[in-house]
Amino acid sequence: MGSILIVGNIVKDIYLKLDERQNVFEKDSNDTPWMNLGFDGSSHKFFRRTSVYGGAAVTLEVFNKFGINSEISGEKLKYENGELIENGQKTSDYRYVLCSGEKISYFVPSIRTHTKLSAPKDPVSWVFVDKSATITQKLIDELGTFLSISKDTKVAIYLSKDASEVARSLARKANLIFSEITPPDELRNRTFVIKNDTISINDYKLSWNLEKTEMLTHLTVHSIAAASIMGALFNGKNKQESMEIAKANVENASLAGTLSLKKLEEIIEKEKSEKINLDMMAKTLMTLKKGILAADESGGSIHKKFESMNITDDFDHRRDYRNIFFTTKDLEKYVSGIILFDETARQKADNGQNFVEFLTAKGIIPGIKVDQGLVDLPNSSEKYTKGLDGLDERLKEYYEMGLRFAKWRAAFEVTDATPTKYAVEKNCEILAKYALLCQKNNIVPIVEPEVVHDGDYSAKHCALVTGKILDVLFDKLKEYNVRLEACILKCNMVLAGKKFGKQSTPVEVGEMTAEVLKEHVPKELAGVVFLSGGQGVEQATDNLQAVTNYGPFPWPVTFSFARALQGPALEAWRGNNENADAARAAFYDRLVANTNALIKH
Ligand code: 13P
Repeated sequence: MGSILIVGNIVKDIYLKLDERQNVFEKDSNDTPWMNLGFDGSSHKFFRRTSVYGGAAVTLEVFNKFGINSEISGEKLKYENGELIENGQKTSDYRYVLCSGEKISYFVPSIRTHTKLSAPKDPVSWVFVDKSATITQKLIDELGTFLSISKDTKVAIYLSKDASEVARSLARKANLIFSEITPPDELRNRTFVIKNDTISINDYKLSWNLEKTEMLTHLTVHSIAAASIMGALFNGKNKQESMEIAKANVENASLAGTLSLKKLEEIIEKEKSEKINLDMMAKTLMTLKKGILAADESGGSIHKKFESMNITDDFDHRRDYRNIFFTTKDLEKYVSGIILFDETARQKADNGQNFVEFLTAKGIIPGIKVDQGLVDLPNSSEKYTKGLDGLDERLKEYYEMGLRFAKWRAAFEVTDATPTKYAVEKNCEILAKYALLCQKNNIVPIVEPEVVHDGDYSAKHCALVTGKILDVLFDKLKEYNVRLEACILKCNMVLAGKKFGKQSTPVEVGEMTAEVLKEHVPKELAGVVFLSGGQGVEQATDNLQAVTNYGPFPWPVTFSFARALQGPALEAWRGNNENADAARAAFYDRLVANTNALIKH
């Protein structure tokens, strides 16, 4: 297969994880007392120290794990059988990498050695001038001499942001370039651009998600990315495959090491099949002529509902109430999924089966509300939705429990002054973070930015506000790399606020809603579902019918009502299980009416 000669410097990176707490006297894991590092005028303490080889050693490690025969020019450091062999040689370059939260600073106490090129014993197919190399005229002269003898050897070079003119001139002659800046047109075909969170070549671009728990720096990340692309190309992969491999290595490497090519290929395969499964799940939720029942009222909301009808709000009544819906005949013919609240997901059906299993067995996909309600935005009358803390762990548990989709609601009250740009951006950013976490945990996210119906505003104004919110939302989803093919929008219909003098007719609602959605919702999205938002039971159905009439749309459209599906059933039940059958019948009527409203007239 040939071999690669790496030209670069080995450094010893000493990672110090800083503790920002003050006046804490403890010992670190090596039993070393806290240390004060007052070098920049502030006082730092560290509580974890780890040292690893960085610079060219990272490239050597990646190549080794990709099965490539390689060595670092002039260095004795070697990889053998997955182990770094130091050969008695000490590296003179070292740097402290100071990590504090997400911030990283470098402290480089030693002078960098000059990079040298020593001709290897055997011919090599590539010379890779890596990120750690100090590219001087002398190095270029040495390389020129070497290449004039070894005519078949190709050159790859890493160009940092601050690359010298000398380095750039070498790049123009190189066969392959990794660059932190966009290259001139004539070099585009052979330049991989590596930025802090993306790799691209020509028009193909990949982003990675970096949430390192280890103290891996972006410096190392760049080296891993370049070496992985180089190593994958060397193994016969094409450009796109090589970038995918680099992304997987960046996302999965840690201070403990990078991954082998085989392991990375397995990760990519697994991610691909998970993506397909998630897309399929979203498609199934959007099955034609079925809706999604929202039965996810939080403790507070269900309390209000029950209180208004003098129903005792306790564990058993809440279970009995939900049980009515879940045991309605032919439910699975009308709904593809049901959104549950945490408590309900842990309650049992009459047959002793857990509700999640009970619904799954019926062919209904169980989902879960994961937001934790609205709280005040600081210094504002507006709200944002909380619940991101610990969400990753909760999603993992929900997946284990069998829940396959989730919902997060942001609410926007409309007044002359609201929603403000700030509230919209803050809430949409949270929605994007939530959606990404869901997808990472193989759960389809429903993002719900609700323009609250209860206000004094015109339908035209509702259209304007809804459109603006959707624009920000889809910008944020894109920024966070949320896959729209596995994401569902839950949206308000466009209509005048409840307190507005002139209420909207179904035709107006249908026309305006269709217009806003068609203009502001990307076509890749898995689907759009509507909340009822306090519209009357019949009104919601009539408006849904009107929206359908303005179709077809680029995505499937259906209902995901809570109040407009449950209202008549709650009235019939009134907390008395003797009325359960009547409640089921009332619910069934709404299911039939709303699924009929999905057929165009
Ligand atoms: P409504 O249909 O009652 O508005 O509820 C839908 C929902 O899930 C709100 O988050």
